[in-house]
Amino acid sequence: MKKNILKINKLSINTKVNNEIFLVDNISFSVEEGKTTCIVGESGSGKSLTALSIIRLLSPQLKMTGEILFNNNDICKMSDSEIRQKRGLDIAMIFQEPMTSLNPVLTIGYQIKEAIAVHSVLQKKEIENRVKELLLLVGIPVERVNSYPDELSGGQRQRVMIAMAMSCNPKLLIADEPTTALDVTVQAQILKLLDDLKNKLNMSMLFITHDFGVVEDIADDVIVMFKGKIVERGDVKQVLNKPKHPYTKALLGCVPDALGRKQLTPIDYVKLDKAIQRL
Ligand SMILES: Nc1ncnc2c1ncn2[C@@H]1O[C@H](COP(=O)(O)OP(=O)(O)O)[C@@H](O)[C@H]1O
Ligand SMILES: [Mg+2]
Repeated sequence: MKKNILKINKLSINTKVNNEIFLVDNISFSVEEGKTTCIVGESGSGKSLTALSIIRLLSPQLKMTGEILFNNNDICKMSDSEIRQKRGLDIAMIFQEPMTSLNPVLTIGYQIKEAIAVHSVLQKKEIENRVKELLLLVGIPVERVNSYPDELSGGQRQRVMIAMAMSCNPKLLIADEPTTALDVTVQAQILKLLDDLKNKLNMSMLFITHDFGVVEDIADDVIVMFKGKIVERGDVKQVLNKPKHPYTKALLGCVPDALGRKQLTPIDYVKLDKAIQRL
């Protein structure tokens, strides 16, 4: 039977000073165990705020309402120490730009060790072995353990972030545009790595992107966000082949094909607004 590891009910986010404008507006969706749900939408549509609310890292100027159930436990009702326990251990997150998340003056081995030590009682030797295991898992040669972040390529740095995220075998990985800063070939390698890890470690994934090309590669289910609302959702094939909402159709018009032969259509927002009003 289908089991949802994450279930979000009526999540809304606004600033404490403005009660009228919702940055995330009454959204509900779930992530099925062992599956990848993609949130797709252009910049500013509320994707990152949704992700941050799940690990309760929203900025203090923002206010959220609704329910976020992780394995049926409401994250919004957890104490700070309970949520700290969940972060990293049950739910891990990776971000777009690994260089800003890695400390430039510490070796990658040291930083992976720290990620492991936060949640475990392993001895020094065991932690060292686990670092090697994680490097192998994400495809970085073990000899690079004493390298500094700036000695690695962008793709390798993202692999280090993934190794840190995997350090405690999370049940849910939230990936917020993890391949956006990478070139397309490296992007494809990282997507494959994440998909392989998801299958191997029996994880579930909430993957955020603005790019339907990425959605096609990695998603099982898709949610399309526009101005803080979910405008379309469904199985990946259904959304890609038979988009219903004008915004989804417009976004799909901006996806290039591999050889750049397709004519790209920039979104005409005036036309789009009219089409949405006619719905
Ligand atoms: N701390 C904040 N205070 C006020 N507005 C914010 C804050 N953080 C984000 N926003 C606004 O919320 C909207 C959604 O942001 P975000 O979730 O980061 O978008 P996305 O990840 O889809 O690009 C944007 O318009 C952004 O400017
Ligand atoms: Mg974002």
